Amino acid sequence: MFDTVRVKKNLITRIVGENFIFLKETESTNKYALRLAREGAPEGTVVCAGYQTRGKGRFDRQWFANPGENMLLSIILRPEMLIDTVQKITLASAVILIEAIQSFLKSRKMIIPEVEVKWPNDLLIDDKKLAGILAESILRDKQVETLIIGFGLNINSNSETMPEQIKSIATSLTEITKITIDIEDFISHFLNLFEKRYLELERNNYSHVISDWKRHCKQFGDEIKIKTADGTTQCIFHDIDENGVLIYKSANGEFKTLYSGEILKV
Ligand code: BTN
Repeated sequence: MFDTVRVKKNLITRIVGENFIFLKETESTNKYALRLAREGAPEGTVVCAGYQTRGKGRFDRQWFANPGENMLLSIILRPEMLIDTVQKITLASAVILIEAIQSFLKSRKMIIPEVEVKWPNDLLIDDKKLAGILAESILRDKQVETLIIGFGLNINSNSETMPEQIKSIATSLTEITKITIDIEDFISHFLNLFEKRYLELERNNYSHVISDWKRHCKQFGDEIKIKTADGTTQCIFHDIDENGVLIYKSANGEFKTLYSGEILKV
């Protein structure tokens, strides 16, 4: 059974997780958090679930995870920023999650895998998906009133127990380390780091996000396929700009930008 008291006991945060809600089962922690945010829940509220009946992924996909095996949580933030800057928080969230995974495993003397980030914020190990992040915002004019950042991290699921839909494309921390990980301990560790980094980002005006993100990305120069509502194009992953927008080189050598979309390996 999930031990909320232990998670809270190990938190050294002032904002994040101060209001920590654990739900044995819910449709989607992002959906639940959005509702709470609209009702006025404070910044830093965390909604965590043991199981999601319809976890939300990007592009209306479903996020699959068996009960009790993984980290499924959403954080309510109320950053004062324009919508254009939201991408920076989501890129930063991927970097924070990588740092949390690596520092957690290091502190427990476990194998530290190389975790890569795939634009904009998928976490991969050996080309298999370890974690996904879904940011959803409530806007007032062009100002972000609330940002919900949802994290799905595969922790203790293994290739035998994983849902059929993701078996061949996903991995987990236990697959890599061969050890069962204490989910409550990891969640406290992650939330402690998340608050620390979030406050630093707000103080430094998000100045290091792009360079930090690039250190974890191995896609530069790769041939990729871009999938958008208009179809699929083959191109080269060139760079990301100062706002995290993808810059790619199209087949005719032109440099173009992509704000949102999915990229696939060729
Ligand atoms: C993706 O890679 O498509 C993003 C997946 C995000 C999944 C997490 S699980 C917790 C939170 N609640 C949701 O409904 N989705 C996010």
